[in-house]
Amino acid sequence: MKTNASDNQWSGKLGFVMAAAGSAIGLGNIWKFPYMVGTNGGAVFFSVYIVFLFVLGIPVLMAEMAIGRYAGMNAVDSCGRISEKWKFAGWFGIIGAFTILSYYSVVGGWVIKYILHYIVNGRISDPSAYFAGFSSQTAEPIILHLIFLFICAAIVMGGISSGIEKVSKILLPLLFILLIVMAGVSLSLPNASEGIRYFLVPDFSDVENIGAICLNAMGQVFFSLSLGMGTLITYGSYLPKDSRIISSAGSIVALDSLAAVLSAFVVLPAVFSFGMTPEAGPGLLFQTLPVVFDKISLGRIAAVMFFVLVLLAAVTSAISLMEVVVAFMAERFKMKRSDAVIVLSLILGGVGALSSMSLGVLSDFTIFGMGFFDFLSFLSDKIIMPLGGFFICILVGYVWGIPAAANEISNGGKLKFRSRKLFAAVVRYIAPALILFIFVSALV
Ligand code: TRP
Repeated sequence: MKTNASDNQWSGKLGFVMAAAGSAIGLGNIWKFPYMVGTNGGAVFFSVYIVFLFVLGIPVLMAEMAIGRYAGMNAVDSCGRISEKWKFAGWFGIIGAFTILSYYSVVGGWVIKYILHYIVNGRISDPSAYFAGFSSQTAEPIILHLIFLFICAAIVMGGISSGIEKVSKILLPLLFILLIVMAGVSLSLPNASEGIRYFLVPDFSDVENIGAICLNAMGQVFFSLSLGMGTLITYGSYLPKDSRIISSAGSIVALDSLAAVLSAFVVLPAVFSFGMTPEAGPGLLFQTLPVVFDKISLGRIAAVMFFVLVLLAAVTSAISLMEVVVAFMAERFKMKRSDAVIVLSLILGGVGALSSMSLGVLSDFTIFGMGFFDFLSFLSDKIIMPLGGFFICILVGYVWGIPAAANEISNGGKLKFRSRKLFAAVVRYIAPALILFIFVSALV
């Protein structure tokens, strides 16, 4: 049962695509993708990424959307509608979304900090020291994490078409405009072409660990498209029955990939132009780029623009994660949407605070040798997401069955489903095998 009968659907195809693309395009594109390229051998990683995008990304995306639209409920009960015993597949979504959010919003808080710093104080002359000093503090990062959560909560409280969809329709175009402007700035720097070559021209002779590169590329495809966590099941459940799953999936993947490529065009040329290496890892955005902003003319304005862009992307993704849990709480416990948002935000506020403190005062507290923040990201990216994706494929490929899924995807045969054979092969064999293989090899 939906809590608010007047606002339980997207207003139309565009609204859904914008919201789903808003979910997909996030820190994963702007923060993670460039540093993944940088730590996984540049263009080689990008090549593998593109292959996985088609082989894994699009079919799994369609499978999730089909489940959601068919069942019309939160991730757990949608899976349960297909088979009572398979509710657990949806649980991966609820737990996974919660896990991601509890560190995602901490990073969202950092982004707010950088925006404020560039507006109020100007340039950052020693970014590494600045980042380390700031992120290990206790009070300020937690307050900013709470502000980020509050922004997201306010949007999710607004509901589907008048909250999430409306905000996505404004923020997403803005995001692309900023990305294009920033890519232009970056490409005009001296030696920018070196960054482009690094990103686009693969050198397979130089590859040391192709297994690790594949694992990381698969994880990145899942993360970037918001797969394996019930997001697309939840968003799909608000789709009108006559919507087009195949073409929507195509648009979402195209927009997400465009955003990732543009982000690489922003980050990599700038990094190479100043003789730095792209291998900084997670610190690339917060430590390496500010060095660039410190050196270019109008760097302060560019920095504000850039971090505002990152914030927009992070917000539209975080609201999708929040919606997965909120839809579940509201439907399962018959809570009002607003109550569900408040309860969830309070819990997330606390867990997020712990993950923030694990980079400072609580750094001695480790789980499997990882700090709490790193543990959450390991748990979601390397465990919950692949397993969630795996079970979704099995559920659709074997339990629900390809004929039933294809029937949903083709709107009862009204639409052509030319790639049906490929879809079946991917969902039944290729994706589960790949996920399992890469998952196991990552653990051993
Ligand atoms: N895709 C988003 C990004 O690129 C993050 C995200 C939102 C996500 N919802 C998700 C990741 C669901 C996995 C599952 O930043």
